[in-house]
Amino acid sequence: MAPNHTLPPLPYDYDALEPIISREIMELHHKKHHQTYVNNLNAALTAEASALDSNDLTQIISIQQKLKFNGGGHINHSLFWKNMAPYDSPATKVERSAPTLLAAIEKQWGSLKKFTDAFEAVLLGIQGSGWGWLVSKGKKGFLEIETTKDQDPVMGSIPVLGVDMWEHAYYLQYQNNKASYAQNIWKVINWEEAEHRYVHGVQDIASVKL
Ligand SMILES: [Fe+2]
Repeated sequence: MAPNHTLPPLPYDYDALEPIISREIMELHHKKHHQTYVNNLNAALTAEASALDSNDLTQIISIQQKLKFNGGGHINHSLFWKNMAPYDSPATKVERSAPTLLAAIEKQWGSLKKFTDAFEAVLLGIQGSGWGWLVSKGKKGFLEIETTKDQDPVMGSIPVLGVDMWEHAYYLQYQNNKASYAQNIWKVINWEEAEHRYVHGVQDIASVKL
């Protein structure tokens, strides 16, 4: 059976994140960039199946980087769309939407502000393309800020929330002002989703079906 990963629909309208993230960025990011990861993932899986059939070990190995890049791109973007909610919607209010996660953040960082400052510093420290993540580790829900390079997915811990720091995520609107993008993103973070992933310890990538 041919691999059939598909582009998940956005859980809001393309202009729902304005004025923080423009409709133009969201349309290109979702319909073009994410769709390309999905297409290339399906192509890589088809090529891998054929290489496995013919037992072509060199070919099997050569496909793994494409699988990692495009499979990671599909996972990361599927998580990212759900990490955001319409500007000024109830889900973006942390006290209301993420009481358990907020308590854990305050316990570890001292305050939400100290956490967001630390997270923004990590985002701005990413060299080249990559992602910043708040992850939860182990049964006690220990929180950490992590980065992944290019489209590497989070592995071995729960991605509570992630921020795409590729230029395609902000450049059309923020140009080189990466700091402004990193500061503004909090206004469209979906804290309900972050709370759900933190409390239930789920990767919530069921729609990816890898
Ligand atoms: Fe992206």
